[in-house]
Amino acid sequence: MGNSTATRIVLAARPQGAPRPEDFRVETFQIPVPRNGQVLLRNHWLSLDPYMRGRMNAGRSYAAAVGIGEVMDGGTVSEVVQSLHPAWSPGDLVLAHAGWQTHAVVDGESLRRKLDPAGLPVQTALGVHGMPGFTAYAGLHEIGKPQHGETVVVAAASGPVGATVGQIAQLHGARAVGIAGGPDKVAHVRDDLGFDVALDHRADDFAEQLAAACPDGIDVYFENVGGKVFDAVLPLLNDFARVPVCGLVAHYNDTAPPSGPDRVPHLMATILTRHLTVRGFIQRDFIALYPEFVREMGQWLRDGRIRYREDVVDGLENAPTAFIGMLDGKNFGKLLVRLSA
Ligand SMILES: NC(=O)c1ccc[n+]([C@@H]2O[C@H](COP(=O)([O-])OP(=O)(O)OC[C@H]3O[C@@H](n4cnc5c(N)ncnc54)[C@H](OP(=O)(O)O)[C@@H]3O)[C@@H](O)[C@H]2O)c1
Repeated sequence: MGNSTATRIVLAARPQGAPRPEDFRVETFQIPVPRNGQVLLRNHWLSLDPYMRGRMNAGRSYAAAVGIGEVMDGGTVSEVVQSLHPAWSPGDLVLAHAGWQTHAVVDGESLRRKLDPAGLPVQTALGVHGMPGFTAYAGLHEIGKPQHGETVVVAAASGPVGATVGQIAQLHGARAVGIAGGPDKVAHVRDDLGFDVALDHRADDFAEQLAAACPDGIDVYFENVGGKVFDAVLPLLNDFARVPVCGLVAHYNDTAPPSGPDRVPHLMATILTRHLTVRGFIQRDFIALYPEFVREMGQWLRDGRIRYREDVVDGLENAPTAFIGMLDGKNFGKLLVRLSA
């Protein structure tokens, strides 16, 4: 294997605003030989996630930036080809973080978990049964805490985080209101995922529709997007409402603060007078819950109590375009790149 070549996608330039295809570069490279403690992986599935936009920026965030010329970061479902680590054997299918490339040599310690090819579809370990599903699970468990009869609102509701938030909320006896972009996604959220209500954030009267859909106000707003969805939600939040701040995808390509008056004093006054809990989190803050999540979500999926949709793109070379589109709502379900036929 040491003389074989593989393909990878590196960060070619830091985007200004929305990423462009030229910000990525496809390269071939010689596959390195694993050393003691390492494994050689062949990647079968690559996950594309909104957080990757943040990794393309320089500067401080909750995780280090990808350097220019470095392989783009990303979760993978991979097969162990060669192992110099006692825990892994050739042929094992594993959840890894091997990046936008067909092959990788990584430390055996870095592999997240072994996957059962006879169990759930292995690529669900990148979506509903992986990081995005865990984000929904942990954010609700630790911050949202939906109660029977409460109203839970979430946007990006056809994506892996939002879809899972609404369905878990319903398992807790809450009412789920999902927000998505366009009639097809709205129909999917309502009819296939079974949310109580689904609304299109692109509608001119979206704020009025949301108010009508939440006659008893909002008890949990699981914040995935920001922007005008948040503006419509804020006046509807009940006393003691909880707002897990998970993501702000409407703003990831922003290059400047929004124009208009400073709204921070109004926001802080609302937090104060309505006794709101607004808490940002990164899913791994709650990693102690992960084994429980894998077990419980696995059961829900096998029982058909949680449903999900995948949007599969074939071929590593198509990852940049798919990723750019996701930030604009062009994906419909968990966005995955299939790297092997
Ligand atoms: N905190 C954490 O640890 C953590 C972990 C995972 C994910 N996240 C965050 O969770 C959120 C959802 O992630 P995901 O993987 O499930 O993504 P996703 O839903 O598959 O993709 C992002 C979706 O955001 C929606 N969107 C984009 N611009 C929007 C706008 N201006 N207004 C409203 N919606 C907009 C689009 O859906 P529509 O077409 O329906 O609008 C798009 O499909 C993201 O913000 C992500 O960064 C956070």
